[in-house]
Amino acid sequence: MLLRPLAHNDAPALLTFYNNLSPATIRVFRPLGSRTSLEICQLIVAENELSPAPRFDLVACDHTAIVGWAFLAGLDTDHPDLGIAVADGVQGQRLGTALLASIVAWAREHGLPAIYLMVVQDNHRAINLYQRNGFVAYDEEFDAVDKLPYYHMVTRLQEARADG
Ligand SMILES: CC(C)(COP(=O)(O)OP(=O)(O)OC[C@H]1O[C@@H](n2cnc3c(N)ncnc32)[C@H](O)[C@@H]1OP(=O)(O)O)[C@@H](O)C(=O)NCCC(=O)NCCS
Repeated sequence: MLLRPLAHNDAPALLTFYNNLSPATIRVFRPLGSRTSLEICQLIVAENELSPAPRFDLVACDHTAIVGWAFLAGLDTDHPDLGIAVADGVQGQRLGTALLASIVAWAREHGLPAIYLMVVQDNHRAINLYQRNGFVAYDEEFDAVDKLPYYHMVTRLQEARADG
């Protein structure tokens, strides 16, 4: 499985990946809503090509298909947010672990002080993955739109580097 930054021609593959996620996955991972469009995926590609870029997207590829996606959005703010998902057919095979390690390494290399995320409270697999990578819960919130309870989590990268 190849992990690489989202490339110029990836919008159609990202669209296919996202729109094929199962309802169970979309319940806990819906940064683009329940379905997305080619225009939105093209916008994501375009934002990666800006300088400085407001987001960084990393994909896991199986030949021409995208089977995993992790991103950092809000790089132009003091609150960069992480999103991550793996295609249903390959969940539980360590791809999420590899994607998260790569994107956290990218964030450290680029001097990000912290990464934030929100996770549904019953998403034990994701919470386990985040905790193993230094994320801690610092708040919780009930989302009135999707009617689910979330944890807010953060990992403070520069502190971790100073301690290490
Ligand atoms: C969460 C997700 C990205 C993890 O990626 P993955 O490739 O499936 O997970 P991995 O194989 O790397 O395993 C992650 C860890 O969770 C553990 N795990 C697996 N199933 C679990 C479960 N039901 N409960 C708790 N932990 C579980 C694994 O054992 C592993 O921990 P370990 O390394 O200590 O053994 C992926 O499952 C996914 O896309 N899920 C749906 C979308 C989602 O939840 N995105 C995150 C939204 S915040």
